[in-house]
Amino acid sequence: MPCNCCEISDAAFGEDSAREDIRSYRKRGPAAQTKLILNAIRSLDIKNVALLDIGGGVGAIHHELLDDVAHEAIHVDASSAYLKEARQEAARRGHGENVKFIHADFTDVAAEIPTADLVTLDRVVCCYPDFRRLLKAAAEHSQRALAFTYPRETWYMRFGLRVINFFQRLRRDPFRVFLHPVSEMDALLKGEGFRRVSFRRLFVWEMALYQRI
Ligand SMILES: C[S@@+](CC[C@H](N)C(=O)[O-])C[C@H]1O[C@@H](n2cnc3c(N)ncnc32)[C@H](O)[C@@H]1O
Repeated sequence: MPCNCCEISDAAFGEDSAREDIRSYRKRGPAAQTKLILNAIRSLDIKNVALLDIGGGVGAIHHELLDDVAHEAIHVDASSAYLKEARQEAARRGHGENVKFIHADFTDVAAEIPTADLVTLDRVVCCYPDFRRLLKAAAEHSQRALAFTYPRETWYMRFGLRVINFFQRLRRDPFRVFLHPVSEMDALLKGEGFRRVSFRRLFVWEMALYQRI
């Protein structure tokens, strides 16, 4: 399915929400579902790895993991406003030299991006219409592990996302949120040579960590 994602994401994830997110991150630390990813990765007890964070937003995952797990990171994001905040925060933390920032829809530039030990997608698949294309490209870039969060397949999430999309249509805003089938995402990653090693649930989000077999 075609997606002019950078254009849509630049509008959906603009300067105001980027500023709000970085303020919240500085005040309260990583969001609850991001902590699930961080804890799951730390439980692997790996060090000195390369991280690829797709749709990293203000960069919470690499800001945290560059302290103790990763030595370098690539952050690919379709929103220039989020990348700007992430870059400033990385510099503030002394990680500026260790992170490469790329403004793009990951699926468009995947062929030019090197593989990494770890790949993360925190609340990203739900912003992208073609989860197969995105997850397959992400899986192909992971040498060791892939962790991601996505909305739970529950009645209240189905209802909530329908309401959000209804108002998006009314506003003539092309950005949509997606509730992708969890069993199909799981099957895709298993088909790419991974097994699920950790799985956690919050009210809204689910987190799954996969390791390459
Ligand atoms: C809901 S935000 C989540 C940001 C951050 N990961 C977090 O959890 O706070 C979704 C992010 O994914 C990015 N994004 C969505 N689809 C993408 C794609 N195909 N390639 C790169 N970035 C993408 C958006 O630009 C946005 O920054």
